[in-house]
Amino acid sequence: MANPSLLILAGDGIGPEVMAEVKKIISWYGDKRGLAFDVSEDLVGGAAYDVHGVPLADATMAKAQEVDAVLLGAVGGPKYDVLDFSVKPERGLLRLRKEMDLYANLRPAQCFDALADFSSLKKDVVAGLDIMIVRELTSGVYFGTPRGITTQPDGSRVGINTQVYTTEEIRRVARSAFELARRRNNKVCSMEKANVMESGILWREEVQWVHDNEYPDVELSHMYADNGAMQLVRRPKQFDVIVTDNLFGDVLSDCAAMLTGSLGMLPSASLGAPMANGRPKAMYEPVHGSAPDIAGQGKANPIACILSFAMALRYSFDQGDEATRLEKAIETVLADGVRTADLMGPEGGQPVSTTEMGDKILAALNASL
Ligand code: NAI
Ligand code: MG
Repeated sequence: MANPSLLILAGDGIGPEVMAEVKKIISWYGDKRGLAFDVSEDLVGGAAYDVHGVPLADATMAKAQEVDAVLLGAVGGPKYDVLDFSVKPERGLLRLRKEMDLYANLRPAQCFDALADFSSLKKDVVAGLDIMIVRELTSGVYFGTPRGITTQPDGSRVGINTQVYTTEEIRRVARSAFELARRRNNKVCSMEKANVMESGILWREEVQWVHDNEYPDVELSHMYADNGAMQLVRRPKQFDVIVTDNLFGDVLSDCAAMLTGSLGMLPSASLGAPMANGRPKAMYEPVHGSAPDIAGQGKANPIACILSFAMALRYSFDQGDEATRLEKAIETVLADGVRTADLMGPEGGQPVSTTEMGDKILAALNASL
């Protein structure tokens, strides 16, 4: 059987720097675990604009549609701020998400013990935390019509956005959440505001429908999203998988992610419908951007991008044990006190470089054999 295929789009700024460390780890899996990938690379964002005049070439888009998973670094940078909106680096990312129809955005909030002191919350509230927020990514208030800003006859202005969800849009993201829950702790909490929004009522009813008809074995609860925000900060460990709409998910996932520390630690996955081989359409990327303030200086923390690859192992390639091996290697390195600059506490110390962090993780992987 052919090797699974990966398309690497490293992008701009620190994207290529953190992706270089991921590439080492991909090679390690081929050499040491018999897990070889067919890896191809291409351009996205400003890097693509510089060559093609667009942030994502059609040929790259076509390739992304064919591979088993896309690994993306980051896009953007001050050099491209002057560009027209239609060719801005971020548009390359949006095109990938839209044309691959990646409707389920997975954002884990996972607390590595060695970094529990780093959280703004008390250590015992976050230590051992491991939750997954599934955010609907392709519909809702960011896309609904009517939308726009109009001027009334009296000169006052009106800004309009509309939250629109269809049965199928809710059901498919609910299925993603229930599937995940079965691989984790079999528990889903769905969040909306059914008390004040009709789209929230539909959301609650459809999630319940998917549960009752297809996943009755998974424990399902419903919560108003504002209460969800409070609960996430008060007692986050009560949750396992949370599923919510695009807008609430945007806010709640950022909030949950920060429970655990640095932007340099946060991975994500965006999944779509299953392909012919049963794997979901998928793109994996760190949550952070291109970090122009530290780009080119070897300071970037590669862990967010490496953890994104761990998610690929788990969710695209059914290699949950190998994903856990990689996460444990990271935990070991952090427990040894190895820190990139973004993970330095007030007590200070000597930070390691991007490459050194990658090498330490490789060493821990070797030690795991
Ligand atoms: P950013 O995430 O690039 O940086 C925010 C802050 O976090 C900076 O101080 C940066 O140095 C730090 N940081 C981020 N990742 C880090 C890492 N791995 N290790 C250590 N420190 C890290 O967000 P910002 O500054 O708002 O945006 C910079 C550029 O990135 C903009 O052009 C923006 O449009 C783009 N961007 C791209 C995203 C993507 O590709 N998915 C997401 C967010 C922003
Ligand atoms: Mg956000």
